[in-house]
Amino acid sequence: MERDTHTNGSRDRHEVREHDVLIIGAGGAGLRAAIEATERGLSVGVVTKSLLGKAHTVMAEGGVAASLGNVDPEDGWRQHFIDTMKSGKFINNWQMVEHFAKEAPDRVYELEQWGALFNRTPEGKISQRPFGAHTYRRLCHVGDRTGLEMIRTLQEKTLATDTKVYMETTVTNLFKKDGRVVGALAYTRESGRFIHFKAKAVVMATGGWGRIYKVTSNSWEGTGDGLVLAYNAGAELVDMEMVQFHPTGMVWPPGVRGLLVTEGVRGEGGILRNSEGERYMGNYDEERMELSSRDVVARANYTEVQEGRGSPHGGVYLDITHLGYNGIMKKLPTMHEQFLKLADIDISKEPMEVFPTIHYTMGGIKVDAETCATNVPGLYAAGECAGGLHGANRLGGNSLSDLLVFGRRAGMGAAEYVKSNGVSTELEDREVEEQKKRVLHPLERRDGDENPYMIQQELQAAMMEHANLMRNEDSLKEGLGKVLALKDRLPNVKVQGSTLFNPGWHAAQDVHYLIQVSEIIIRAALERTERRGAQWRLDYDGPDDELGKINFIVTKDQQGEVGIEKREIPPMPQHLAELFDGGDDKHGGEQQGKESQF
Ligand code: FUM
Repeated sequence: MERDTHTNGSRDRHEVREHDVLIIGAGGAGLRAAIEATERGLSVGVVTKSLLGKAHTVMAEGGVAASLGNVDPEDGWRQHFIDTMKSGKFINNWQMVEHFAKEAPDRVYELEQWGALFNRTPEGKISQRPFGAHTYRRLCHVGDRTGLEMIRTLQEKTLATDTKVYMETTVTNLFKKDGRVVGALAYTRESGRFIHFKAKAVVMATGGWGRIYKVTSNSWEGTGDGLVLAYNAGAELVDMEMVQFHPTGMVWPPGVRGLLVTEGVRGEGGILRNSEGERYMGNYDEERMELSSRDVVARANYTEVQEGRGSPHGGVYLDITHLGYNGIMKKLPTMHEQFLKLADIDISKEPMEVFPTIHYTMGGIKVDAETCATNVPGLYAAGECAGGLHGANRLGGNSLSDLLVFGRRAGMGAAEYVKSNGVSTELEDREVEEQKKRVLHPLERRDGDENPYMIQQELQAAMMEHANLMRNEDSLKEGLGKVLALKDRLPNVKVQGSTLFNPGWHAAQDVHYLIQVSEIIIRAALERTERRGAQWRLDYDGPDDELGKINFIVTKDQQGEVGIEKREIPPMPQHLAELFDGGDDKHGGEQQGKESQF
């Protein structure tokens, strides 16, 4: 349904669109949720501020983790559960991890039935490659283009349904009525025309917020919109301090610094060396070497450079030359093309230069493991913007299966909610008009002298300096001071031009999200006074047993400030706890709190 409600000048007109379920974000989680809700007979709208097919999902290049046991028949959901909990340092939502480990194989086979073309074993099964800290070869892959193939498949499936997709459309706020989420306001990036989406349920699937840092594998979309919209609507967030630095991003040339170099390179036997030619991973994780967990490999690479053993452009060397040209073209064609075209390096002949890059955010909107419902009725979340599954450190390839498992659950949860609740989505016009006015303010005001790009640049520099992969209290506090000073400047943001495709105006929205997320991350990082996974506090020696039983829950308090609560993690039931007693765990019973000191 579509109608114009205002006619006094084109800037004030807005459309109204109605759907049972509105999905914000068109990456893997959003599309999988859309397919599920549509198949349940509901009217579904998907809004993406970018283009269909262009999501951070494509940056999970190396594979989708699922214990099919095609290459290592000993694998199964239990070992996948164990690996995920251990890598997450046991602060994961174990209910989510159990669903995830059990359901991932079905979701991969389903994707195959929908047309995804995976690499094959000689017997014709889906091939699986090793990846960091996965006990078995578990990563189902399409060369090094797995995320791309996943998005392509989900996109085709979505377009074959009645789902309506709104591209290049930015959501600016959620509407609530009687405590429930009942829709959203958005504008089209091309014309600036507003759309009021009426929806009985909303699924947030907007991905992460890597753009708060300067060096990141994330593209421009990763600004944390969905997280902040949910937070502003009253949603709880969990363990926001946990930000993943992928161990290997490009370092040279400067224009591509941070671009992902897939873990698939190390999965295929890639070796890390420092400027002295030393294969140093043995100093950090003797057993797993280059295939240690991401937090460990990222810190190792960082440390080698910090201690003066870096490459000329400030990285370390990653060598895959042993595969030869044919092997590389079969297994890592994207990497070959990427380095040849962007850095003039033939990786079949020379090593790559790499350094950690911000890639993923483990923290996010807290959801129910069954339905992906948040604590706000009518609001659901899935994928990277949701937290809990990955705990303190995500295993490579677990993100893609996360999108499939919990995208489906979110679509199902939202659909069931709509069917069993009579939700009225009617609002007073005044509420919509107030929001439009707020969004237009940076364009229409006469005063104001702050440029959103300058604020973003200063923020990225502050986050790089103070909330990087090694942290301490003094530096975090200094960083918080800088972020709050930038926050004080937000009311003075002014942009020029009109609502017609105006990047400055879009940046004026984004910078609010970027600053809010950064403040939350730093405040949470100050609270978690220990070393655990991605949260590596240099002013503490190791993990704290008590904090290992705690999730940090963030909410917007009554004064509109960031409130942080420590919430105890419920104990694992017997059937899961006993997996760590040594029986099922191939590497023995590593228990909560027994953390590598590196
Ligand atoms: O390295 C990669 O291919 C990324 C995978 C992931 O983030 O899961």
